[in-house]
Amino acid sequence: MVVTIDGLAGAGKSTVARLLADRLGYRYLDTGAIYRAVTLAVLDGAPDATTVAASGAWRVLADDPRLRSSAVDEAVSAIARTVSVREALRGAQRDFLAAGDAVAEGRDIGEVVWPQAELKVWLEADPDERARRRGTVHALERDRRDAEQTRVPADAVVVDTTGIAVDVVVERIATLVGERS
Ligand code: DC
Repeated sequence: MVVTIDGLAGAGKSTVARLLADRLGYRYLDTGAIYRAVTLAVLDGAPDATTVAASGAWRVLADDPRLRSSAVDEAVSAIARTVSVREALRGAQRDFLAAGDAVAEGRDIGEVVWPQAELKVWLEADPDERARRRGTVHALERDRRDAEQTRVPADAVVVDTTGIAVDVVVERIATLVGERS
């Protein structure tokens, strides 16, 4: 079964998706990290983001500690808006999800990448809390830049994480998984 966890920056996607995958014994797909790895390759001097995306050259950077740097934060939205980059990465994401049980997080997974997901979650938190979690108001600026790629699936379960402990959120989603499997 595939569970998608989409939402804005600072909604808690990474923490929730990672813990949920552990809890269920599912594989975990962080699609934001893939867009970040392509961006890092370009910052490191690769001439063309689409070539990096299509060749899979980003894979060697997928765990690089610089993925969360402010340089990548700044540059990633423009690269993620590039249609040819999105198309190339969509293929890699679909290959991963086609292999079976997984929790995938991102902006467009439930609506565009894997609309057949058995459970789609849209994570929300109020803007103050999202800015606090990110430790910066830049997260909200990034939402604006990412708006076009951000899709709330029509059939998503909306989970508001404002003021709710992360293990409670994970438990709530795990219960939904149990009901649907
Ligand atoms: O979730 P994150 O902050 O690690 O995502 C990094 C960037 O990648 C974010 O600015 C938006 C983009 N992104 C996207 O366009 N589509 C996705 N499925 C995931 C992330």
